[in-house]
Amino acid sequence: MALHGLYIHIPFCPQICPYCAFSSLRGVDHLHERYVLALCNELCARGETYQRNPLQTVFFGGGTPTQIDPSLIGQVLETVDRVFGMCSDVEITVEANPGTVDLEKFSHLRSVGCNRLSLGVQSFDNYALKKLGRVHSSEEAIRAFSSAREAGFSNVSIDLIFSVPSVSEPAWKGSVDRAISLQPEHISAYALTIEEGTLFAKREREGMLVVLTEDDDAIQYDWTRHRLMSAGFGQYEVSNFAQDGRESRHNLGYWTGLEYLGVGLSAHSYIGGERFWNISDIESYLQRVEGKISPEEGRERVDGQTARRERFWLGLRTSQGVLLTEMEQEILKHNCRMASLVDAEFLRLEHDRVVLADSGWCRADGLAVELTDLLEQKPEGTPNVC
Ligand SMILES: C[S@@+](CC[C@H](N)C(=O)[O-])C[C@H]1O[C@@H](n2cnc3c(N)ncnc32)[C@H](O)[C@@H]1O
Ligand code: SF4
Repeated sequence: MALHGLYIHIPFCPQICPYCAFSSLRGVDHLHERYVLALCNELCARGETYQRNPLQTVFFGGGTPTQIDPSLIGQVLETVDRVFGMCSDVEITVEANPGTVDLEKFSHLRSVGCNRLSLGVQSFDNYALKKLGRVHSSEEAIRAFSSAREAGFSNVSIDLIFSVPSVSEPAWKGSVDRAISLQPEHISAYALTIEEGTLFAKREREGMLVVLTEDDDAIQYDWTRHRLMSAGFGQYEVSNFAQDGRESRHNLGYWTGLEYLGVGLSAHSYIGGERFWNISDIESYLQRVEGKISPEEGRERVDGQTARRERFWLGLRTSQGVLLTEMEQEILKHNCRMASLVDAEFLRLEHDRVVLADSGWCRADGLAVELTDLLEQKPEGTPNVC
């Protein structure tokens, strides 16, 4: 299989948001140039292992890639082109925090080849932004979006977070409506997750943060799905909605099992049936790459059972669902539990695929576990007729 995508991690942020568990650092701007040089060296070293093959997608994620100077992004892209090459219609995405951008920065990012933006707005409600500890206001987020358009970005995604404690339902609905009114090509709507090791997790443990109930979460999610779909955004993954043809090609690669290389601090890769990942301590990362030692921390072969579980877990979250083997089709067609999940409109069997039905979208992960358990319990070749 050929390498589909390249993920490049930029770990620098203007602040550490209290909900975020991504590998991110603040107050170390003096490391930008050294880090980018290390990234380029890691890319060159990886290029010796993997065949040169033009990439379909490149994704600068973080952290906050717009925290560093766009000329550094350009420097990385030149190296990527030299080492791997890029297809003529390559999708090059940059994650951007509205508090770190202006027209000049966006224009510079366009001029070095970036053609897709993922704007971390999170909310258009200033109270919610404060709760989320963001550095920008709703007005700044709107200005950032306009500047991106002015700079020539014709493929822009907006990230939103719902189920934020103490943020009212009308405030969330207003945020979604505001996002729609800006007419982006893509919207990601994530339920707030309380991640271990974050300030929100600590506050929750101390009883200072009361999260929404599962039912309230499901109500907000369901309203959001239907609102976005009625505004012309197709749902192609649990949290992702796009205008026709504007789905993220990079993320679709992850969800459909295509190969990708990740470079930089804590970046993960999936190549040749193996997953491997880099260390997450910045000083060790820099020293290793500078000393021509691989920054890889671990590696594992994805065995048959894990591969199946991942195929269901990732595939079921997409609108295409999971492509089933003939044996899986036979088992599911004749299984009583599967029949009840279909009756409850959680799942649908469509010829050789299992896909989420309308009521299944808010419980995709649980359904994937249920399906794989059900297939693993079933002795092969003994369909159970209801
Ligand atoms: C790496 S960040 C995006 C870029 C940039 N750092 C920013 O925050 O503007 C990726 C996205 O993940 C989402 N995210 C991060 N932590 C989350 C959490 N705990 N729950 C839900 N969404 C989260 C946010 O929507 C965020 O925009
Ligand atoms: S949400 Fe974005 S800006 Fe905030 S800490 Fe995480 S990566 Fe950094």
